[in-house]
Order: sequence, then C-alpha cells, then structure tokens
Amino acid sequence: MRIYSRILGTGSYLPEKRLTNADLAAELAQQGVETSDDWIVERTGIRARHFAADTQGSSDLATEAARKALTAAGISADELDLIIVATSTPDMVFPSVATMVQHKLGTAGCPAFDVQAVCSGFIYALTIADSMIQSGSVKRALVIGSEIFSRILDFKDRTTCVLFGDGAGAVILEASDQPGILATDLHADGKYKDILCVPGHVNRGGILGDPVLKMDGQAVFKLAVGVLEETARASLAKANMTDADIDWLIPHQANIRIMQSTAKKLKMTADKVVVTVDQHGNTSAASIPLALDTAVRDGRIQRGQTLMLEGVGGGFTWGSVLLRY
Ligand code: UT7
Repeated sequence: MRIYSRILGTGSYLPEKRLTNADLAAELAQQGVETSDDWIVERTGIRARHFAADTQGSSDLATEAARKALTAAGISADELDLIIVATSTPDMVFPSVATMVQHKLGTAGCPAFDVQAVCSGFIYALTIADSMIQSGSVKRALVIGSEIFSRILDFKDRTTCVLFGDGAGAVILEASDQPGILATDLHADGKYKDILCVPGHVNRGGILGDPVLKMDGQAVFKLAVGVLEETARASLAKANMTDADIDWLIPHQANIRIMQSTAKKLKMTADKVVVTVDQHGNTSAASIPLALDTAVRDGRIQRGQTLMLEGVGGGFTWGSVLLRY
C-alpha cells in the first residue's frame, strides 16, 4: 500500500512592521530614490509588505509559523521526526535555521536541516520531506519557508527593493494511507545563476563581493512564465490528472502578471488562484506556505480539494507539488 504525505496543519507569521507602497516610496524618497504606488501596483500587483525587526532572525519568524502549524495539527514538537527549513536568508552561515527552530520549539533529537533553492525552496523542502515519509523513515515532518529578504536588498536600487518582503509559513506533514501529496517535480539549471543572485560572501572575516540582491527582472520574468507551466503539467502527468482537476493554484508570489499568465496557460480562472503578493510582496521561500496558510485559514481551501503548488527562483530552480488537501 502506498504511503502518502498529508498536510495535518498549516501556520504562518508576518513581522509587525507593515509598509504600504506609499510608506516605502516616502522612505526611499529621503534617499533620492524615486518610485510610486502606481508603478509598483501596475507592474507587480504588490501593495504592501512586512519587514522584520532588527532583533528578529529567520529562525524567529520560522518558529512562530511552526507553533501555529503545530497547534493547527494538534501535535507537539516532540512528535516531529523531521524539520526542514527552506531559506536563503539564514540567521548565520551555520548552524542551520532548522536546528535553531528545533531548539526554540523546545525539542531535540530529530534530524533538522536547511534547503537552499531560493524562491523554489519550499517546493524542494516539501518534496524531500515527502520522499522521506514515503520511504517509511519519517512519520511526521515540519516543513517551513522563512525569509528576511529586507536584509539583502539594495534600497538604492528601485528595480528590486520594492519587490520583496519578510515572513514565514509552515506545514506539518503526516504519513497516511489516504491521498496527500500526489506528485512532485523538481528542476534546476545553473547557467542562469547571474540573472538572480546575491554575489557577496563571507571571506576571511569580511565580505567579498556585493552582498545585495541583483536581478535581471525581464529575463527572470520570461523564464518564470515558461517553466511554471511546464512543471505544473509534469506533476499533473505523473498523477494522471489534467488542469481541470486543480481546485486551487498556489504559485510563488513574485508578480501578479506572472501568476495570471500561468493560470491562463493552465486554463484556470483568476478566482482559483491564491494571491497574497498584494499584501506580502515576494517573500521567496516563504511565499507559497504563507499563501497556503492564508487560504486555509480564510476557508477557501477545503479538505479533499486538489492544490497545485509551484515555485521558481534563483539558481535557476523550479518545481511543483500536486496534492490532495
Ligand atoms: O522571486 C523570483 C522571481 N522574481 C520574479 O519573478 C521577478 C520577475 N520580474 C518582474 O517581476 C518584472 O520584470 C519587474 C517587476 C522586476 C520589472 O517590471 P518590468 O515591466 O519588466 O519593468 P522594466 O524593468 O522594463 O522597467 C520599466 C521602467 C524602466 O524605466 P524606463 O527605462 O522605461 O524609463 C525602469 O527604470 O520602469 C522603471 N522602474 C521603476 N519606476 C518606478 C523600475 N523600477 C521602478 C520602480 N519605480 N520601483
């Protein structure tokens, strides 16, 4: 009998500080950087984002999201067999955010590690957890996407600094004989590394290279639209399903235009796409679990429905997870 990974509970966390486009534009204007609510909304669909406090690390955001997911699942941290955190903005070079979350949740012993696949990170992490559950080695897994992109933004570069926000989302997966994750699909192509990257790194006590996000927005846009359709179709084919079977599309939340274009290609109407980019901005690996938790908690997503989660990001990496909720 096949073992499935079922979502037992979801949770998310957004830092208190919320900036509308107008708030951000006013802050940027003080540094001579010109932008506007109109431009940001028209080109991206973003209206607001949250920024973490200086005292918070990705592990703090992740722990808050994890606590909510544990409560929703009705289990304690001691019942976890695995913790994976998807992040590109860890608290430290090492140890991993996942081990910090484990400790902050007051538990110990189970394996805990980070996955770094930028905006596809949560899809990668979910796929790894699903494989470990299917192998029988893990019964319950906590999978988190947590990011503080505000720390790696260049606030003098208006083409990138208006796009991103901070946050965390989490799910608890449990082994089940009832359908949960139906199919997964992962890809990467390193030749695109320069179109979205943070080139700086720690070197002999200093930072070598520029430690802020660089993006060729148009190149990323074109690539994203193509691979998001491909990976969704690949997961559907693996599960012997068609686009008509999807109840909810939960794409990486980077730009409303990319999401609308993907939905159109999958013949889905806009009301079947979970959109949080307007309120959260692009939170990289946190965006998909944040959107998932939002739509679970507001009652849109119901048990038994079929969800298509898909992401694309730096690397380039991309992938999808098709699941029965
Ligand atoms: O999470 C990973 C995935 N990331 C993404 O999916 C991002 C993908 N790319 C995008 O979402 C879009 O390419 C952007 C939102 C980044 C840019 O939108 P665009 O429609 O491609 O705009 P553009 O880069 O062609 O810029 C158009 C104009 C330029 O001015 P000129 O050269 O036409 O005079 C820019 O200088 O808009 C200007 N501009 C801005 N104006 C006001 C760029 N950023 C801003 C800004 N405010 N923040």
